[in-house]
Amino acid sequence: MYGLVNRAIQQMVASHHGEDVWQRIKARADLQDLDFFSTYQAYPDDVTHRLVAAATQELGLSGDQIMQAFGEYWITYTASEGYEQLLESTGETLPEFLDQLDNLHARAAIAFPELQPPSFRCQHSADASMQLEYRSKRRGLAPMVTGLLHGLGKRFQTPLEVDQIASRDQGDATDLFHVRLSPASDPEASQPDPGVRHE
Ligand code: HEM
Repeated sequence: MYGLVNRAIQQMVASHHGEDVWQRIKARADLQDLDFFSTYQAYPDDVTHRLVAAATQELGLSGDQIMQAFGEYWITYTASEGYEQLLESTGETLPEFLDQLDNLHARAAIAFPELQPPSFRCQHSADASMQLEYRSKRRGLAPMVTGLLHGLGKRFQTPLEVDQIASRDQGDATDLFHVRLSPASDPEASQPDPGVRHE
C-alpha cells in the first residue's frame, strides 16, 4: 500500500505510545533499516501487515483492535495531510458521503496512480439505517472499515452504531456492515414529511 498508509500507522503509534514504541515495532517488523516511508511510494502490502502484526505484539492488542483504531485515525490523518478538501467535497452528510466513497478514491487516484482502491455500495433504508458493502482485492481489512465508519460518524457529528453482518473471513461472499444513525442525527427525521402540506 502507499506510504501514506504506513506513515499514518507510524504517526498513530508514535503519538499515542511514543517514539520508542514505534522504533520497537519497526524493528520487530524487520524494517529497522528504513529511515522513513515516502507518502507517494507504493510499498508491498506485506510491509503494512508486518507493522500491524508487530504492533499487536508490542501493544498487547489484537489485530482487529489495531485495524479498527487505525480506520478511525485515518479520517483525521488524511484530513491533516492535505486531503481535507477531498473529504469536504465528498458529501455534506454521512449518508451522502458513503454514496460517494468510490468517487473519493477515484479522485485520490490522481495523486496515487497505482492505487488499488476498495469499493463500496451503500443501500439506504427508511429507518435511517444503511447497509454498506465493502469489496477489496485484499483480505483482513474489514475491521478497518468499522473504524472508518466510527471516524466518519465523529467527523459528521453523527452518532452511529456499526455491526458487521457478513464477513469474507467467515466464509461469506462479501463484507457487509449495518450502520445505524441515532434518530437525533438523521437529517431526514427533522424535515416535515414531504407528503404532508403545511399551509
Ligand atoms: C481523502 C481521504 C482519503 C484518501 C486520500 C485515501 C487514500 C487511500 C490510499 C492511498 C489507500 C491505500 C491503497 C493502496 O495503496 O493501494 C487507501 C486504502 C483504503 N481506503 Fe482510502 N482514502 C481516503 C479516505 C477513505 C475513506 C473515508 C474511507 C472510508 C470507508 C476509505 C477506505 C479505505 C480502505 C478500506 C482502504 C484499504 C484498502 C483496501 O480495502 O483494499 N478511505 N485509501
